[in-house]
Amino acid sequence: MATPDTLRYAKMPLNNGSGAIPAVGFGTLIHDPLATKEATKTALEVGFRHFDCAERYRNEEAVGDAMQAALSAGAIRREDVFISTKLWNTNHRPERVKPAFDASRLRLKIDTIDCYLIHTPFAFRPGDELDPRDEHGQVIYDSGVTLIETWRALERLVDDGECKSIGLTDVTLENLQPIVAAARIKPAVVQVESHPYFPQWDLLAFCLEHGIVVQAGAPLGHDMAPRIVDDPVITNIAQRVHKTPAQVALAWAVQRGTAVLTTSTSPRHIQENFEISTLPEDAMREIREGITTSIRFNPVVGTGVPGFIPRAS
Ligand SMILES: NC(=O)c1ccc[n+]([C@@H]2O[C@H](COP(=O)([O-])OP(=O)(O)OC[C@H]3O[C@@H](n4cnc5c(N)ncnc54)[C@H](OP(=O)(O)O)[C@@H]3O)[C@@H](O)[C@H]2O)c1
Repeated sequence: MATPDTLRYAKMPLNNGSGAIPAVGFGTLIHDPLATKEATKTALEVGFRHFDCAERYRNEEAVGDAMQAALSAGAIRREDVFISTKLWNTNHRPERVKPAFDASRLRLKIDTIDCYLIHTPFAFRPGDELDPRDEHGQVIYDSGVTLIETWRALERLVDDGECKSIGLTDVTLENLQPIVAAARIKPAVVQVESHPYFPQWDLLAFCLEHGIVVQAGAPLGHDMAPRIVDDPVITNIAQRVHKTPAQVALAWAVQRGTAVLTTSTSPRHIQENFEISTLPEDAMREIREGITTSIRFNPVVGTGVPGFIPRAS
């Protein structure tokens, strides 16, 4: 009898000794709260045990409602689910970090955050306005705080037992290296755009060397054109291994050593995205060597302005 494929249950150890992160994660960048709640519920039902959230997605409450319903019904145990959320750009000043963190866990209805991430390395003017702009529509940045000062405030959350691990998102290798060098508590997780059209091999190699888990955001390229699920290398492999193109792209991500965050509001896609299986080595090689398209879909790393989230009103 064939051994069942366990890729979808893979876990990656965290470098700060507080456990492991399920490699197959569900991202909650969904604009409508009701759709967020439904999608989170479905994702829990099909088997996802890793959820990525953010203050800036403005739907933590909906994720928390779905999570709470599953916990109360005894469908899941809190310790079996890994939940990350993110500090928004307007809260980089150290004194704003703990209040922002507490507000997120209140909305998510959980006591402990498994990983708290700095959403982007750019500080915006502190305040309640999530997207501060001047009269010309230009972002108002905050030059009064450095990334390492914000990082120190996150380290204190770990010291105080408030969250289990900390990390960064939307960084380049150049942003990441000085933080890793200066950090007392090293980043456990780094979340970046990563897919077959933007594999970021250098950043992945650096993170693997330092025991940092890379969370691949937008693993299907946010479904933007040119669509990864239509790429001939991917579709040919999908036909050969009797999987869908999305499953091929997601399996590739996990097998090359990243955790993956996929997002869908379609119950069929949510189930499909969890049910990945190991690809043969020749398929892994074909994706690495046969795909030459190179596209970064999200410009957020250059500005701190999220590419896939509408401006806050
Ligand atoms: N830190 C950051 O700045 C940042 C930036 C981007 C993303 N992220 C994280 O990464 C997560 C994923 O990003 P993403 O939303 O760009 O994910 P993605 O999985 O690359 O793209 C989602 C899109 O693909 C479609 N899709 C999903 N499954 C599919 C399937 N099996 N077949 C065909 N199409 C499919 C979805 O449409 P349907 O709804 O119709 O299925 C949706 O339009 C986010 O939720 C977030 O947690 C973080």
